[in-house]
Amino acid sequence: MRDTLQKLKETAWRQIAEAGDTRQLDQIRVQYLGKKGELTGLLRSMGSLSPEERPVVGKMVNELREELERLLKERYGALEAMELERRLKEEKIDITLPGRRPARGRKHPLTQVLDEIKAFFIGMGFQVVEGPEVELDYYNFEALNIPPDHPARDMQDTFFITEDILLRSQTSPVQIRVMEKQQPPVRIIAPGKVYRVDLDATHSPMFHQVEGLLVDDSTTFGDLKGILAAFIEAMFGKGRGVRFRPSFFPFTEPSAEVDVECIMCDGAGCRLCSNTGWLEILGSGMVDPRVLEKVGYDPKQYQGFAFGVGVERIAMLKYGIDDIRLFFENDIRFLRQF
Ligand code: DAH
Repeated sequence: MRDTLQKLKETAWRQIAEAGDTRQLDQIRVQYLGKKGELTGLLRSMGSLSPEERPVVGKMVNELREELERLLKERYGALEAMELERRLKEEKIDITLPGRRPARGRKHPLTQVLDEIKAFFIGMGFQVVEGPEVELDYYNFEALNIPPDHPARDMQDTFFITEDILLRSQTSPVQIRVMEKQQPPVRIIAPGKVYRVDLDATHSPMFHQVEGLLVDDSTTFGDLKGILAAFIEAMFGKGRGVRFRPSFFPFTEPSAEVDVECIMCDGAGCRLCSNTGWLEILGSGMVDPRVLEKVGYDPKQYQGFAFGVGVERIAMLKYGIDDIRLFFENDIRFLRQF
């Protein structure tokens, strides 16, 4: 029995000393001190000893168990300290390394241009309003002096949802919605998305317009010219030629398209301006008296002017972008350039 105990002790001591981590120590503890452990087994088998031997061997086994426990605890502590040391070393953060900056976002070029347009008109005392993108035929066409089956509807190839409901093809319906709700003076811009059945390098089925409307009791074409000329100067810089070219829109009379001297060739003629020296920027005109009548304004008392700007068009000219689709592909290499 003494020999067995001595042998057991030697083996256990060696195992403990060789244990590489706390998990191995746990195994050793189970091996000797567990319910079915070797030392526990010895205690159980004491029944076969003689009454004289029993207390002697019992004392030895108990001492051995205490010693084993103490040793295990010591080794446990040492291994834990080693493991902590190792982890501290491995997981050390080098605070002298340069930091990793989170990628910084920026405004989409169209948002930037829209912000500039808004800033200009807010500075001129205009209010920013919005209208629905899913619109009634009445607001998109009829109230704007475009009756059903009128050829003027062909100017805007429209997404119809039902006979009376459509995706607005222009921001002009917001003019009507605003005038229905308030009396002059009116001084608003209405930015937003518009939709047309159209798709190529310069046309997108969804694009952005900014509508402008000013109605008061002494508004003239001179006011229209003054404000739009100042707007173009704000967008494209000082000293660039601007011309008002007679045109037609059903809701304005007279109507004018506004051109700016080509920003690529300064009017000499190039590919961008199709050798005309001019770039078309926006549509405008004096609000047709019939439109004023439709919303209950007296055309003898009030006059107004209106205009519509394509945001993509301005952005393309400003930045020399030749394909409208680039705005909507969200290629980060493109967007980062602005
Ligand atoms: N709504 C027109 C279009 O989409 C643009 C326009 C022209 C708006 C003249 C106006 C305007 O308010 O007076 O083609």
